[in-house]
Amino acid sequence: MGNVPSFDGAEEIGKTGWFFATGWFSNGLFILPMASRTLTGITPSGTLHVGNYFGAMRPAIAAQDSGECYYFIADYHSLTSVFDPEVRRANTLGIALDWLACGLDPAKSVFWRQSDVPEVCELTWLLGTLTPMGLLERAHSFKDKTAKGIAPNFGLFSYPVLMAADILLYDTTVVPVGKDQKQHLEMTRDIAIKFNQAYGETFVVPEPSISEDVAVIPGLDGQKMSKSYGNTLEIFGDEKKLRKKVMSIVMDSRTREEPKPDADQLPATQLLQFFTPTDVYEDIVGQLKAGGYGYGDLKKALFEHYWEFYREARARRTELAANLDHVESVLKDGALKAHTVARDVIDRARRNCGIA
Ligand code: ADP
Ligand code: TRP
Repeated sequence: MGNVPSFDGAEEIGKTGWFFATGWFSNGLFILPMASRTLTGITPSGTLHVGNYFGAMRPAIAAQDSGECYYFIADYHSLTSVFDPEVRRANTLGIALDWLACGLDPAKSVFWRQSDVPEVCELTWLLGTLTPMGLLERAHSFKDKTAKGIAPNFGLFSYPVLMAADILLYDTTVVPVGKDQKQHLEMTRDIAIKFNQAYGETFVVPEPSISEDVAVIPGLDGQKMSKSYGNTLEIFGDEKKLRKKVMSIVMDSRTREEPKPDADQLPATQLLQFFTPTDVYEDIVGQLKAGGYGYGDLKKALFEHYWEFYREARARRTELAANLDHVESVLKDGALKAHTVARDVIDRARRNCGIA
């Protein structure tokens, strides 16, 4: 091994936002303090829902106060599921507005469109040449999508390699994601380690950050909330339509008067807990258990609390939507900053594998 630091991984020490990279120089072990760099991406394949908010966006926004944050709109990823250019453009802009409205602060975070840093495609190729077919064949997301009848293509199959490139291109230490992305993070780590072994130390090996309490936000039908299951509650949208969505949640046939001992297991209460303080939630669950509190009351309460929860964010979103030049300049500025880091890492990777 040359005189290059080897990153075996990065471990967070307490909640300080600092990481310690450990590894080997040719002359011995080193322990390097490094600021944490959190990175995550959201694919513009539809409208964002509260599962995305609690699973990915809220932890990402909270991380802005400790360490560096890199957040991007994964428009290259959307090419595997969206085939209308206008829809892609509209989704991308919508997601930019959503993130900024929900608290992404461009003064604290680097925020950009994935495709504004095309080096990620070059890195995908470098990584792909070391990614075993077996690893990709075991990917749950590929198996799920093809089982649902989506025609498999190279893009869908190689998606975890593009995701690994997204992460490794920025020397990322932490990736906050929902539980469904855990396997992709394991693949990213495997690919980074393989590259480092083949060509010398090149990439930081990142850690996933999955918050257990919000790992799986239930949808309106109690299954995991997901665009693909048609059970989403959007973060933003038309009040009337969203109210109707909540009021249409299918419940069982118990009457208002009947006690409901399983009150905390109902899809509507499981969602309610994310939007209310604990005492309010417990009061409603208590009334359901006692009887005399009906499903209409419950759904009304759920809607009101959910609507209130996003009130400020909604106002911010309306302001941003009236100032799209500002939004575009935030993304362009983010792309410049992201590009500087990406250029460094891709040059390191090119040098180490002997193509530069
Ligand atoms: P969808 O399942 O609706 O297609 P995505 O796969 O685009 O959602 O997810 C974007 C991010 O939001 C990912 O980090 C994912 O883990 C997180 N996420 C999506 N749905 C949920 C959920 N129901 N609970 C927790 N996190 C979620
Ligand atoms: N695959 C992620 C999803 O479907 C989105 C994504 C793309 C991502 N690249 C990423 C998330 C890098 C974290 C890090 O939700």
